[in-house]
Amino acid sequence: MPKHLFLALFILLLNACNPPANRQDRIDLKVDSLLALMTLEEKIGQLSLYTSDWDVTGPTMREGYKEEIRKGRVGAIFNAFTARYTRELQRLAVEETRLKIPLLFGYDVVHGHRTIFPIPLGQAASWDLKAIEEADRIAAEEAAAEGLHWTFAPMVDIARDPRWGRMAEGSGEDPYLGSRIAEARVRGFQGQGLGQLNSVMACVKHFAAYGAAQAGRDYHSVDMSERMFREVYLPPYAAAVHAGAATVMTSFNDYDGVPATASKYLLTEVLRNELKFEGFVVSDYTSVMELIPHGVASDTASAAALALQAGLDMDMQAGFYQSALPQLVASGKISKELIDQSVRRILRKKFELGLFDDPYRYSDTIRERTTIMKPEYLDKAREVARKSIVLLKNESVLPLSKNLGTLAVIGPLADARREMIGSWSAAGDWTKSVTLLEGVRAAVSPATKVLYAKGSNVNDDSTSYFQQALRIARQSDAIILAVGESASLSGEAASRSSLDLPGVQQQLVDLIQQTGKPVVVVLMSGRPLTINAMAQRVPAILETWFLGTQAGHAIADVLFGDYNPSGKLPVTFPRSVGQVPIYYSMKNTGRPLDVNSKYTSKYLDVDNSPLYPFGYGLSYTTFAYSDPVLSTASLRAGDTLAVRVNLTNTGSREGVEVVQLYVRDLVGSVTRPVMELKGFQRVSLKPGERKEVTFFLTYKDLEFCRIDGSFGTEPGQYLVFVGGDSRDVRQAAFDLL
Ligand code: GLC
Repeated sequence: MPKHLFLALFILLLNACNPPANRQDRIDLKVDSLLALMTLEEKIGQLSLYTSDWDVTGPTMREGYKEEIRKGRVGAIFNAFTARYTRELQRLAVEETRLKIPLLFGYDVVHGHRTIFPIPLGQAASWDLKAIEEADRIAAEEAAAEGLHWTFAPMVDIARDPRWGRMAEGSGEDPYLGSRIAEARVRGFQGQGLGQLNSVMACVKHFAAYGAAQAGRDYHSVDMSERMFREVYLPPYAAAVHAGAATVMTSFNDYDGVPATASKYLLTEVLRNELKFEGFVVSDYTSVMELIPHGVASDTASAAALALQAGLDMDMQAGFYQSALPQLVASGKISKELIDQSVRRILRKKFELGLFDDPYRYSDTIRERTTIMKPEYLDKAREVARKSIVLLKNESVLPLSKNLGTLAVIGPLADARREMIGSWSAAGDWTKSVTLLEGVRAAVSPATKVLYAKGSNVNDDSTSYFQQALRIARQSDAIILAVGESASLSGEAASRSSLDLPGVQQQLVDLIQQTGKPVVVVLMSGRPLTINAMAQRVPAILETWFLGTQAGHAIADVLFGDYNPSGKLPVTFPRSVGQVPIYYSMKNTGRPLDVNSKYTSKYLDVDNSPLYPFGYGLSYTTFAYSDPVLSTASLRAGDTLAVRVNLTNTGSREGVEVVQLYVRDLVGSVTRPVMELKGFQRVSLKPGERKEVTFFLTYKDLEFCRIDGSFGTEPGQYLVFVGGDSRDVRQAAFDLL
C-alpha cells in the first residue's frame, strides 16, 4: 500500500478510536487525512488562484485554465459566478481530478452583488452600522445564490489623501469609525458563519496601509512611523480579524521598504502572532510577480520563496507558486511543511464551507432565480442610499416643493445611468439603476414640468451644451444641478492630482448660478472635492457619492423632504489639494496657528481649517447640545467614565443626529492628536423632543502607542468633546489617574 494511503488510513483509524471533540477538530482530522493523500503538485494547486474571463457572450474560461483545473493544479477561481457557470467549473474539479478537491469561487462583491448599494465611502457617511451590515448581508445572499463562496471585501484601508482614488472603496480617515464599520461588514458577509448557504467568506484588504500611498498615487510606496501604523492604519484590519474574517488580502504597496506580499513582519509577526489570524492570506492580483519590479526579487523562484516564507498562502493570478515551488522544494530551499501549512489553511475553509459534503451546494439555479434583486433588497438599497447623503449647505432652499411649476434638472450626472453604481460595482447591472432625473420625475406632482439638459460632459472642455442648459434654467422656478466625477475617476488606478470639478463643470455651475434662481447642487464623487467657489455661491449642496441601484429615488427622497438628511462626512473636505493630507485628528505642533503671528504653523494662501470637517453634515431640522456632564472628575483603572449630554431637536422636523464623542490627551510621553473619535450614536428626535445621550469611556479606550512603543495609558488631564461634528463641540475635562 502506498505510504500516503497508509498514513491517511492510520490518521482516520487513530481518530476513530478517539473521536475529535469539536467541529474544528473534526475538520482538522479530515484536512490531515486528505493532505496525506496529496502529491506536491496537487498541494501547490491549492495555493493557486486564477481569474475567469468574461466577454460579450458571458463567462468564459481559458482552455489552459480548464486543463489546469482537470490536473488538480487550481485551488480557486475568481470572477466566475452564476449557478450554472460555477457548477460547470466545479464539475471539472470534483469529477475529473484525482482527489476531487472542490474549487473556491471568489469575486469583488464590494458594495453589493446584483443589488448595488452606495460606494463604501458613501455608506460610511451613514454612520449606521446596522444598515451597513444589512447591506452586506444582502450582498452575501445574492453572491452565494450565484455560486460564490468568497468576496474580496471589506476594503478597510484608512485613507487621508483624497487624491487616492480608492478612498471611494473604504470607510474614510478615522480608525475608530473604520474599525466599527469593518466589524459590521465582516458580520454582514459571514452572517451566521461559514457553511450557511447565504454566507460568504470575507477577505479583509488590503493588508496593509495601502491607503497611505505617497502623493496619493495608487500602488506607490508607504512609509510611516510604527506609531502611526499601529494607532491609525492597523486597527481596522485588526477589528475585522477579531470579528472573524476568514481571509486577508495583501496590498500592492511596500511598507517600510518591504512589499506587503513579502513582508514576514506584516503577514506573520503582526497578522499571525499578534492578531492570531487563523484563516488564509491571498495576494492581491499579481503582487507575487510584482516583487520583481519592486526590486526585492530577481526571478520567479526568489519571488515565490519570499512570499511563501513571509506567510502568503495563495498566489492570485501570478502563477509563480505553480511554476516555482516544485523546484524550490526539490532543492530544499522551501520545506514541504511550509507548503502543507498553507494548504491546511485553505482546505480548512473548504471544509468549513461544506464543499466536501456537497461541492455544488452554492450552485443552485432555483435559489439563484428567487434571490436576485428582490423588491425588499431594492428597498434596503434605497434606505441605505438615503442615509448616505450628506447635506453640506442649505440656505432655505431645501426641501423643494413637489408642486413647483417648472423644475430644471441639469448636469452631466443628472441622467447618467452607468455612473450611479460607482466603481467596484462588479456584477451590478447599471442598466437597472435609477438616475437622478428619473427619481425627480417620479417624485414631483404631475403638474410639475421637469426640464432636462446635460449642460456639459463630465471631463472635457466642451461648452457646447451650456446655452441649452441656460435656456431651461431661465424657464424654471428652481434648478437641480448634478455635477462631480464619473465613476471611473475614482476606484483603482484612479488617482487625481487635482480635486476640482473635472472638465468645465465649475463654469457650468457659475453660469447657472448667475441666473439668480434657487439652485441645488447634487454632488456625485468617490472622494472629497475642492468646491470652495460653489460653497460660497450656491445656496444648497448635497454630497451623494455614488448611491447605487436606487440612487435617483434616494436623492429625490432627500430633495423633496421625504427623508431628512442625516449623513456625516467620514472624510475631511479640504479647501485646497495643497492642504492634503488633512484630517481632524492632526497634532497641535509646537507653533499652533496664531493668525496674528507670522511664525506659526499655517499657509500664506489658505486657511488651515478644512472646507467641511470630519463628522460634518446638516439636517432640515436643528439640534442643540447641553454641556457634557461627567460621572466623575477622575478615571481610575477598572472604572468607567460616563459622559452625558442632552440633545434637543430645536427645529420643526423629525430628524436623526449622529452624536459624536471625542477625547484629547493634553500631555503625553509623545505628541497626541488634538481630537480622537471614541464613540458615536445615531439619535432620532421629533421636533422639540429632548434625549439624554450617554457614552461610556474606559481606560482601554484611552490606550495609545507610548514613547516606549508599548500600548497603554498614561495619567494626566483629558478633554472630552461632544457634538454633531469634529468642529462644533462642547467640552469637559477629567483626570486619568
Ligand atoms: C484588484 C484589487 C483588489 C481586487 C483584486 C481582484 O487589483 O486591488 O482589491 O480584489 O484585484 O479583482
